[in-house]
Amino acid sequence: MSTDLAVSVWKGTDDGGFVEHHVPQRDNQTVLDVVSYVQRELDETLAYRFACRVGMCGSCAMRVNGKSRWTCRTHVDKVVEDGRLVIQPLANLPVVKDLVTDMAPFFDKWRDAGGPFVGHEDRGVGDDFAAVEPDSPARRLADLSQECIGCGVCYSSCDVVTWNPDYLGPAALNRAWVQMNDERDGDHGARLRAVSGDAGCHACHSQQSCTLRCPMELDPAGAIAGLKRLSFKAALKGKL
Ligand code: SF4
Ligand code: SF4
Ligand code: FES
Repeated sequence: MSTDLAVSVWKGTDDGGFVEHHVPQRDNQTVLDVVSYVQRELDETLAYRFACRVGMCGSCAMRVNGKSRWTCRTHVDKVVEDGRLVIQPLANLPVVKDLVTDMAPFFDKWRDAGGPFVGHEDRGVGDDFAAVEPDSPARRLADLSQECIGCGVCYSSCDVVTWNPDYLGPAALNRAWVQMNDERDGDHGARLRAVSGDAGCHACHSQQSCTLRCPMELDPAGAIAGLKRLSFKAALKGKL
């Protein structure tokens, strides 16, 4: 016989509130399965996002019992507390509706942190690709950081973003670290200036919530520490 989960789901915008539901508990049920059940069977107006269901697109992130998570790969039995789930939109972002947040401020910061690659060589027609040695130290550092799926879990978990909404945040700074370690990139100076300001890497207090929560097991806090080192070195050389 199946038991019911008590599920509180956020409805409305920033000044909305919780609505209570009862959802049958199943084996191997994910939190996204629960949200989908609510939308299909109990409240067809519920807004939420997902796409791949397999941990690739990053669109299904929400807060579950207070912690930010990717919901398609979070099993209910790992997070349920006393038969209850409390499901909210990500923190630190405006709520569009229900469980859907506006991700524009998050991705704007990737741009502001110098996230885009800037090539430093013009390649002619027929030229081969620029070769990057797979076992070079910089390549290995970048590999540790580049599997980000843009889910926003780290950003939602970062209390410095909460205190200072201008802070670039862990994902944008992690992206900047990837580009700083790409030897083909030609914009290291401008990017380092972009991440060294008041809202940049030096604002991070290094308590590692981002690294602890990242579902891809990336280390944004380590990336930010790397940016701090680069920034200090550049400052000592008078290059900032
Ligand atoms: S380590 Fe830095 S970026 Fe990560 S959660 Fe803490 S303050 Fe935010
Ligand atoms: S660093 Fe991790 S938690 Fe942050 S956006 Fe990328 S995948 Fe998500
Ligand atoms: S739906 Fe794509 S990561 Fe969860």
